[in-house]
Amino acid sequence: MYEAARLKKMFTEAYPDAGEPLVCRAPGRINLIGEHTDYNGLPVLPMTIDSDIRIAFVQRDDGRVLLRNADEAFPDREFTNGPDIAPSEPGAWENYCKAAIQGLNRHFGPARFHGMNLYMAGTIPIAAGLSSSSAVVVACALAYLAVLGKTLGRDISRLTLASVLAEAEHYVGTRGGGMDQAIILLGRQRCALKIDFFPLRVEEVPLPEGHELIVCNSLVRAKKTGNVLHRYNEGPRLCKLICALVEKQVRMNFGSEIELERLGDLWHGHLCLTHEEVKELFARAVPDATTTLEEAADALDTTPDEVRARWLDDLPEPDKGFPLRARMRHQLTECRRVEAARDAMLADDAAELGRLMNASHESCARDYQISCRELDYLVTIARESGAIGARLTGAGLGGCTVNLVPTAIHETFCDKVDQGYYRQYLAQSPGTYPRNAIFVAKASPGADYL
Ligand code: GLA
Repeated sequence: MYEAARLKKMFTEAYPDAGEPLVCRAPGRINLIGEHTDYNGLPVLPMTIDSDIRIAFVQRDDGRVLLRNADEAFPDREFTNGPDIAPSEPGAWENYCKAAIQGLNRHFGPARFHGMNLYMAGTIPIAAGLSSSSAVVVACALAYLAVLGKTLGRDISRLTLASVLAEAEHYVGTRGGGMDQAIILLGRQRCALKIDFFPLRVEEVPLPEGHELIVCNSLVRAKKTGNVLHRYNEGPRLCKLICALVEKQVRMNFGSEIELERLGDLWHGHLCLTHEEVKELFARAVPDATTTLEEAADALDTTPDEVRARWLDDLPEPDKGFPLRARMRHQLTECRRVEAARDAMLADDAAELGRLMNASHESCARDYQISCRELDYLVTIARESGAIGARLTGAGLGGCTVNLVPTAIHETFCDKVDQGYYRQYLAQSPGTYPRNAIFVAKASPGADYL
C-alpha cells in the first residue's frame, strides 16, 4: 500500500515545483456472482478488495494534464484538456484518464479546462480481472472533480458519478456495463453489494460467517483493452442483437410498439414479465441453437450489412452462426443465481452460495464461453482443495478465480492450490510467480480522498 505521505514525496520528486498535492484512492473489486449481466441491466454481486490505485495531484492552469506512474511499465504521458479530447492509440494508459476527464466535462460543462499534474501508484494486479482499469478511471475522476471545485456527495452523488463514469469508460473501446464503477465508488467494508441498474441502486449483503473469499490469479493475462477487447465486446454485441430479435417477438405477441433498450427491460419497465414469460419469449425469438447473419437479417426484415452496422460490427461469424441461444441461457440463469445468492448470504447459508458460484462458473464456461483451460483447471483444483464454491471473476478469458473457503482450512487450501496449480500445472517454481497470486479478499471502503 502506498501511504499518502510516501505518495506525496514521490509526487514532489517527479514534480519539484508543483506544490503540495492532494491524494485520492480507488479500490479494485472481485465479483462473487452475476457475470456479464450488468450491460443488460441485470444484477451483479461484487465487493471491493483492499488493494487500490492512488493518485497524488495538483491543478495546473495551462490545461496540460501530465501523468507519471510509480510503475515503469507505464511511461510518462501528457495531453491537453479541452471540449473534445482525442483518444491515444488503443491500450495507451492515459486513455483511462482521458475517459474520466471527458466524462466529467460532458457532465458539468466547465467554463475553463484546467490541467493537472498526476502521480499514480497502485497495488491492484494488472490485467487480472480485478478492475484496475476502472479504478484508474474513478481515481482520475476524483482528482479532476477536486480541480473542478466540485464536492463528491454535494455537487454529484456517488450513484450519479458511477453512472457517468460507466458511460465515460466506453471511450477506451470496451462496451462494459456499470458494475465496476459502482462497486468502486459505493463499496463498503466487510460486505458485498447487490447492484441493480437503470436506475443504479445498491443493497449491502453480508459475507458468510466462518468463511473467506480467496482470490487465485490464473496468471493468464486478460488485458481488457488488448487481447480480450474483441472477445469482451462480443457479449454486449450479441445481447443487443438478441434484444432486437426479442423486441420483434414482443410486438408480435403483444401487438404493441414497446421499445426494448436492453434485455433487462423485459423484467422491469413497462413489460414487467415473469421469469417464465421471458423464457418463453426468448425461445420463440431465437428458436435455434445458432443463428446465422442471414437468418438474423431475415428475422429482422433487413439486410446482413444492416445487422452488422447496427449490432455486430466486425464480429467474426462462426461457421454454424452465432450461439445466441446459449448466450441467452446464461443471462436467464445467471440473473436468477444473483437473486438466490443474495438470499443465501442474508440467511448466512454458505453452502448454497457455494453451489450457486459453482453453477455460475459452469454457465460462464459453457454458455458464455468466457473461461479458458487454466481457469477451469484452477477452479477444479480449488474445489478438490476444499473450496465450497469456485468460479472465474470479472470479464473472464484469464485473470482470477474467487473461492469460498471455510476459514478453518485456509492453510491447507492455499498449500494445495499452490502445489497443484502454480507448481505442477504451470510448472513454476517458488519466486517465479507473484507472492500475491493467492490472497484473501477483504472488502475496503469505496473510493475517496485521503
Ligand atoms: C468487466 C466489465 C463489467 C462487467 C464484467 C463482467 O469487468 O467492465 O462491466 O461486464 O466485465 O461481469
